[in-house]
Amino acid sequence: MPYFKNRQLAEKYHVSPKTVSNWIDQAKEGKADLELIQKGSYSYVADTPANGVVLESLAAKGKKYRNAAYFKTVSPRPEFYEIYSDRQILDIITNLSVHGEVPLQYNYLQDGAKNWEDRMARFESEGVTNSLVGTIELIQDNLATIDRFLKGKKKVNVIDLGVGNARPVKELLGHLLERGVLNRYIGIDISPTMLEVANRNIEKWYGDAVKFEGYVRDITNEQFDDLLVEDMLDEDADQTINLVLLLGGTPVNFRSFNDAFKPIFNSMHRNDVLIHTLKPDTHASRRYLDLGPKPGSISLAPNFKYILDLLNIDESLYEAELGFDAEKKMRYTRVRLKAAVEIQFDLGGSKKRTVSLEKGEAIQLYRAWHLDTSEIIAELSKARFTFLHASLTEDGQYFMTISGVENRIDADRP
Ligand SMILES: C[S@@+](CC[C@H](N)C(=O)[O-])C[C@H]1O[C@@H](n2cnc3c(N)ncnc32)[C@H](O)[C@@H]1O
Repeated sequence: MPYFKNRQLAEKYHVSPKTVSNWIDQAKEGKADLELIQKGSYSYVADTPANGVVLESLAAKGKKYRNAAYFKTVSPRPEFYEIYSDRQILDIITNLSVHGEVPLQYNYLQDGAKNWEDRMARFESEGVTNSLVGTIELIQDNLATIDRFLKGKKKVNVIDLGVGNARPVKELLGHLLERGVLNRYIGIDISPTMLEVANRNIEKWYGDAVKFEGYVRDITNEQFDDLLVEDMLDEDADQTINLVLLLGGTPVNFRSFNDAFKPIFNSMHRNDVLIHTLKPDTHASRRYLDLGPKPGSISLAPNFKYILDLLNIDESLYEAELGFDAEKKMRYTRVRLKAAVEIQFDLGGSKKRTVSLEKGEAIQLYRAWHLDTSEIIAELSKARFTFLHASLTEDGQYFMTISGVENRIDADRP
């Protein structure tokens, strides 16, 4: 019969090995209803469904009677409450307690936007294909194809989802301006600071020729069709097309890769076009984990440390883990707690919440799903997009798809 090693149980239930041997002693004395397995002179807990239930309740009971000194108590810094809205704080609390993670999107607010700018400045200057130079190369190489899908329309609205600092789209905007077809440039981002950065850059590059419109939205659950109503009802509507951009691999960081596809699909009109760029799964992309402050680093990049610092979780309380999970096909950055931590959130008045995290528990700070090129196209197709075109950078390290939404034959697909 399969059985658990004591260490496995300690890890699984976030308890000490001593607690596991106490449970075994209790079972021997008939005080806990656990089936044991004898191996030589040692007893182990059998891996059975019935034992699973008893173990859960033993672990829960142990937690209930722990004294306050067991936890290292921390309270988020005052800036935390200035940066995030109550709704976002509640979302962070839920994500920490239910999923053991802080969603990456919260790393881009305020100083987090500066971290992204610094990263982009490095990306632009280094000689390898990264999200920035890969996207620029793909757009540049495919300008004639993009023009073809814009179908000679006189007005092109560019809607840039997760706009970042807008750098990847600079040349495309220049091209549309030159052709005299650029109508509106709309940037959507979770981070108001990122939108300010994009606005500043557009002004610097194009002065009054391009007016940047920035909107704070979460693209995983908010549509953008409301921003286009005037254009789509205007008398020039049949000469207007919306070019939607999802650049730099933003969806690979979401809990599910396809989280944003539904609101995007539902916001697009008949002739509209979606350009999506990201790093596909390759041997090189699995090997090369550019997540630290410098390429190849194993310590936490500033943007990951930023959110932990805001939560007031000191470096001495965790160890960084960076790697690739081959089973899930996912790169990750997480921290493993060296002590049990209780985070006390105080949103004013009686609005208080506590999140308790066990010693040995991990907080996930970053994930990037790895999909190969055919999987990326399949995911877009599952979300009902019509595949129009795909392209790889010369070195095969960055990928672009162009999709539409019109698919009358499939209209009744379940
Ligand atoms: C990986 S960066 C890509 C930026 C830019 N498109 C590029 O290619 O350089 C992700 C951007 O999307 C924003 N973002 C992340 N999650 C988001 C969400 N759920 N809703 C809206 N914006 C989000 C971030 O603030 C950041 O600006």
